[in-house]
Amino acid sequence: MASFSIWELARFGHTARYLPRNQVSSYLAVEPNGLMHFGLRDAAHKAGYLESDGSFFLLPCGAEDTQTIIRTTHSSGGSVDCIVCILTLCSIPDAEKILMRLVRDVLRPGGTLFIFEHVRNRREDVAWWQWLWSPIWSVFFDGCRLDRATDKWVERMEDIDSSGGMMAMWKSVIMKYSTENDLEDNIMPHVLGTFIKHD
Ligand SMILES: C[S@@+](CC[C@H](N)C(=O)[O-])C[C@H]1O[C@@H](n2cnc3c(N)ncnc32)[C@H](O)[C@@H]1O
Repeated sequence: MASFSIWELARFGHTARYLPRNQVSSYLAVEPNGLMHFGLRDAAHKAGYLESDGSFFLLPCGAEDTQTIIRTTHSSGGSVDCIVCILTLCSIPDAEKILMRLVRDVLRPGGTLFIFEHVRNRREDVAWWQWLWSPIWSVFFDGCRLDRATDKWVERMEDIDSSGGMMAMWKSVIMKYSTENDLEDNIMPHVLGTFIKHD
């Protein structure tokens, strides 16, 4: 059984331990906060991803720097098979536009976006409390907002088709909520989403 110590939870880069080394050829981590780099690098090394053999890249830029991300993925044709967002889209300013660019320009056709994020509650009265607390919350938690409907805007993403019209970005969407019941007054409901991009 997997177990976490408090020290491990206080560090970052947990994603690495869920990337099976025999199936994932390289891991590119994007983290603008240098204070998290030690933990990220350490977790990647423990999972078998190393900068020295080109299986691990740690970019100190934000997710908005798609040019740097594309340049780094050059050896794999300028695209990636998967994008993983864990409790991040709540903190990135302009997350909708930035994720859209990453999915459109960096995720390969047929690739997968995985998200685990806390989202706006579907109950309007609870969403109001999320909105009210967000300005204070974001001061203490590095810009994190409680009231982002991340699940909704990711699900609705569109791409431009070959004739210049709009088409659905995803050919498959699976979302699972921590709050299955709409009447639950959870101020931090989470969604686990798997989105497969069109071919
Ligand atoms: C709540 S932490 C989650 C960290 C990690 N995903 C985890 O679950 O352990 C939010 C993260 O978003 C990062 N972040 C903030 N702005 C960003 C941006 N523009 N691009 C990429 N990451 C960003 C922060 O530096 C921080 O590491």
